[in-house]
Amino acid sequence: MHVGIIMDGNGRWATKRGLPRLVGHKRGASRVKDIVKASTELGVTTLTLYAFSTENWKRAAHEVEGLMKLFRGYLQNNFVELNEKNIKVNFLGDPAPLAADLRVQMADLEALTKDNTLITLNVAINYGGRDDLVRATRTLAAKVQNGTLAVDDITEQVVSDHLDTAAQSDPDLIIRTAGELRISNFMVWQSAYSELAFIGNSWPEFTPEVYAEVIADYRSRTRQFGAVIPKGAEAVE
Ligand code: IPE
Ligand code: IPE
Ligand code: MG
Repeated sequence: MHVGIIMDGNGRWATKRGLPRLVGHKRGASRVKDIVKASTELGVTTLTLYAFSTENWKRAAHEVEGLMKLFRGYLQNNFVELNEKNIKVNFLGDPAPLAADLRVQMADLEALTKDNTLITLNVAINYGGRDDLVRATRTLAAKVQNGTLAVDDITEQVVSDHLDTAAQSDPDLIIRTAGELRISNFMVWQSAYSELAFIGNSWPEFTPEVYAEVIADYRSRTRQFGAVIPKGAEAVE
């Protein structure tokens, strides 16, 4: 089972308490460890965390810098432990605009953890669903241009195989914290049949208990994928 989480509401969590937004981001980052652990206990085999969107560069420079500093700190502090815990880490998104030292650490962590099997942790940084599709389209067009791919051979599977999530299953469930009812450019293609859960708690308030309730609700749903499934025959992963 693949779960995607749009970790929203850090800023509001802090502002409501009279604190700077960056304190909320810090609090949010400290939720990650618990939620990764809870994921392994809840039967989640792939967890995708939406950490920074292609649109988040529009924020004030000091907030963007603060977020980048937090990623750097997260990578440094968790590098060894993620591997020891048998977690496979993947980064989604275009790393090109990120600082060189961050890119090196990200690539090193992916290489170090590539054979780990407990859970796949995707961290989406400078990720946009549309950007994912644009980059895939460019790769496909280049293959057509150099003769390694025929236009008629482009299928849904081929498109999926050229996205950042190539070889992964689509998210079964996408959770968004903090009450906003939108996807904000998260996995535009991959979410075609994802179940959605919008919850009121902000990301700093998203506990393993709340997570378990959301997963239980998901498991009570019927997924038909456009078909009509006879009562009693439905199975949710
Ligand atoms: C965290 O929440 C998500 C990131 C973009 C890092 P926000 O920073 O969007 O918090 P709100 O929505 O302003 O409360
Ligand atoms: C979505 O949250 C992006 C991440 C959680 C990384 P935003 O707070 O950026 O989304 P909008 O602006 O409310 O749509
Ligand atoms: Mg937000």
